[in-house]
Amino acid sequence: MERINTLKNDLIQEALNAGQNSYSPYSNFKVGAAVESKNGKIYKGTNVENSSYGLTICAERNALAAAIVAGERDFTKIVVSSKNGVAPCGACRQVIWDICGDINVILTNNSGTITKEMRSSELLPAAFGPEDLKK
Ligand code: THU
Repeated sequence: MERINTLKNDLIQEALNAGQNSYSPYSNFKVGAAVESKNGKIYKGTNVENSSYGLTICAERNALAAAIVAGERDFTKIVVSSKNGVAPCGACRQVIWDICGDINVILTNNSGTITKEMRSSELLPAAFGPEDLKK
């Protein structure tokens, strides 16, 4: 496992900050996400749970929604933080692929230690995506 390095430090810190605001009274599983746009701006998200469970929105999708609302369309990397540095759920993998294409995905625990780093194409191989609708 790798410690925070200076290049990724800001994005990791923003994901950790977002995760602290997690609304997760049902699972108590706090997740933070921070996505960086090509112009270097950072957009944050955290998981927002709901008593009907299925309406819960993951940290990654909230971060991407915030970026889209701000007009961003091009992204370079996303950090996802949680207590054990888990990988995005299947739904988020699809949304990351659709909106960001093949970007860096950095997973960290809540101390900011990187647990895994990969491309979104590795997370969702043989994906369905925007290009398929053009064929
Ligand atoms: N969660 C995320 O925010 N992102 C993921 O990729 C995995 C799961 C949240 C949803 C729910 O609030 C909690 O983690 C437990 O599943």
